[in-house]
Amino acid sequence: MSSSPATKPDNSDPAKHNAATLSIDGKEYLLPVRHGTVGPEVVDVSSLYNDTGLFTYDPGFASTASCDSELTFIDGENGILLHRGYPIDQLADRGTFLETCHLLLYGELPTVDQYADFQNRVTMHTMVHEQMNRMYAGFRRDAHPMAIMVGVVGALSAFYHDSTDITDPVQRDIAAIRMIAKMPTIAAMAFKYSIGQPFIYPRNDLDYSANFLQMCFAVPCEVYKADPTLARAMDRIFILHADHEQNASTSTVRLAGSSGANPFACISAGIACLWGPAHGGANEAALNMLSEIGTVDRIPEFVERAKDKDDPFRLMGFGHRVYKNYDPRAKIMQKSCHEVLDALGLKNDPTLQVALELERIALEDDYFVDKKLYPNIDFYSGITLRALGFPTTMFTVLFALARTVGWIAQWREMIEDPDQRIGRPRQLYTGPAEREYVPIDQRG
Ligand code: ACO
Repeated sequence: MSSSPATKPDNSDPAKHNAATLSIDGKEYLLPVRHGTVGPEVVDVSSLYNDTGLFTYDPGFASTASCDSELTFIDGENGILLHRGYPIDQLADRGTFLETCHLLLYGELPTVDQYADFQNRVTMHTMVHEQMNRMYAGFRRDAHPMAIMVGVVGALSAFYHDSTDITDPVQRDIAAIRMIAKMPTIAAMAFKYSIGQPFIYPRNDLDYSANFLQMCFAVPCEVYKADPTLARAMDRIFILHADHEQNASTSTVRLAGSSGANPFACISAGIACLWGPAHGGANEAALNMLSEIGTVDRIPEFVERAKDKDDPFRLMGFGHRVYKNYDPRAKIMQKSCHEVLDALGLKNDPTLQVALELERIALEDDYFVDKKLYPNIDFYSGITLRALGFPTTMFTVLFALARTVGWIAQWREMIEDPDQRIGRPRQLYTGPAEREYVPIDQRG
């Protein structure tokens, strides 16, 4: 993959390794070490099987880099998240979601003219084909909105034939714009369907997030005015979820796309992966936990349970596989949470009081300090989304909406990589060795 001058890795640093030596039965193999712009170096094992007949073994990919990427960087030890080099807190505090989309898709924050053009292109694609409305009617009324999302997003490939030739950069771009533009419409329709209200069409006079709120909360019999504070909070939540490196759903999108599959179908695969409770579902669990604790005086009891090795209870919204410091997104989410509750006159919301006090107590407790367990993005997002008016079943849908730009940017980066090949992991086979077929009447 080519590197832009701004991100070209520095290979002249003498502190960096150039190669690693692997010794097998006294024979030594030199494996090249590659350097990124920042972050850990990688040992390139791509020729290992050819050279040695051995595979590497790394279930869960804890030590495996699956690709080159210029999009997102996480330094978990120091609680840093960068998109194309820009810290997440700067993007969330000072920018808009569509600016972040432009940054992820095209590599740079847009100029004024580029922004106006991008906003216009997205706005002009927000409607979905009218026949898609009928797809919703095929789902049971009580269908989970994520089930609807998986089906409807995959079905986009049946409606937009002019954006499915992945070898054509123009079609790839249209597919990306369509996905970013239509996802709020599709998500809002899933919500409306689940509560038995009529679909609300997009409004081109509103910005991305205000339009999404009106599609979710307007009804045809009343005039709806999106509260700018709430629309801004929604926009920030989208920015915070826009991309997060090679997580499970992003890797799913890349793997599905590596076969040359239709881009809409690849995003649908990402949505399916995100749906799992170990990935997109933790904010719901955190909110449930805070509600279960209920009052500040019960916090010590739950903290003790979280520390007890014999009790499976964990503080939900605490701890992270990568962040061993305060999740930088959690800080912004906490701020947004305050803004939303203030705007709605819910400053004394008991769940927020429990969350703030629980965070304070846990951050002073040796157990959490020693294990580097800090609040993650999910700790405050559930309270915020509930205050905005969303039921818990919609939480992961909102995550999918926001992450779509990350998925599609990663998918494009993969397709445009000249070294890209179909993803095909190997395995350590532990089943029976070859054996003879036994006719059914002779099996014991
Ligand atoms: N409460 C209490 N103890 C915890 C917690 C917690 N939330 N998280 C980790 N620990 C303890 C573990 O018991 C373990 O202790 P031990 O070393 O004495 O056995 C130690 O900290 C390390 O925990 P692991 O589970 O090994 O860490 P891992 O990196 O595998 O897990 C995870 C990370 C899954 C996020 C974990 O911290 C957790 O379960 N948190 C609660 C769920 C949650 O908030 N998930 C959202 C993640 S963010 C996201 O997906 C967007």
